[in-house]
Amino acid sequence: MGLTGLFLITFLIVHLGINLCALIPDGGETFNMAAEFMGSPFIKPLEIGLFLGFIIHIIDALVLTIQSRKARPVGYEVSKASANSTWYSRSMGLLGTLLLIFLILHIAHFWWPSKITGFEIDGRESHDLYSLMLYTFKNLWIVLLYALTQFSLGYHLLHGFKSAFQTLGLNHPRYNGIIEGVGVIYSVVVPLLFAVIPVILYLRVNGHIAF
Ligand code: HEM
Repeated sequence: MGLTGLFLITFLIVHLGINLCALIPDGGETFNMAAEFMGSPFIKPLEIGLFLGFIIHIIDALVLTIQSRKARPVGYEVSKASANSTWYSRSMGLLGTLLLIFLILHIAHFWWPSKITGFEIDGRESHDLYSLMLYTFKNLWIVLLYALTQFSLGYHLLHGFKSAFQTLGLNHPRYNGIIEGVGVIYSVVVPLLFAVIPVILYLRVNGHIAF
């Protein structure tokens, strides 16, 4: 889980970097160029690794949950979970499931039409991923879904980031403070920026802002 988690954490940074290009007011030129680079033959094999990363991460989570239930079939007589752990560390399964639902919808919005079926914008076949984003984020419900899901992502990462280092034995009393600090900054900033992108594109495409 630690390895796949760190891999996915790295992916999110790259994904965010590309998405931020969509905010440049150049009609999506930079964003489309960056997205095209990610589809190039050098990078393409990583996509298979990425999907495998998600699948292994989810299967690992299920196996670990089943194992820990088996290890303690009878619960603790006195369990003051809130005194020993945060609510989000105990809710990783729920947060992860919300993310999985988001991910399925997200793949259906972008990856599936762009890579598998092709798509049309205003009745015309298109290859312009930026236009597909504008078209998708015209819809306020979708924008709200994307923005709100980022809370689940943030809390999932808040626990997951430092856990990954601990699982891999990369923690050390001297560096734990730094790892935790970087984890908190990452878990707040990355989801926040992810949330801002659909909101700005919504305002842009519906003519509420001029840039
Ligand atoms: C909220 C803002 C987000 C936007 C605007 C966005 C946009 C996109 C777009 C346009 C694609 C299609 C790329 C292509 O077909 O070349 C894509 C793919 C993908 N996104 Fe996102 N994304 C967002 C957040 C996320 C988050 C939070 C995750 C993970 C938790 C994620 C995971 C993925 C995955 C796994 C793919 C398919 C990978 C691939 O194309 O190789 N995205 N995203």
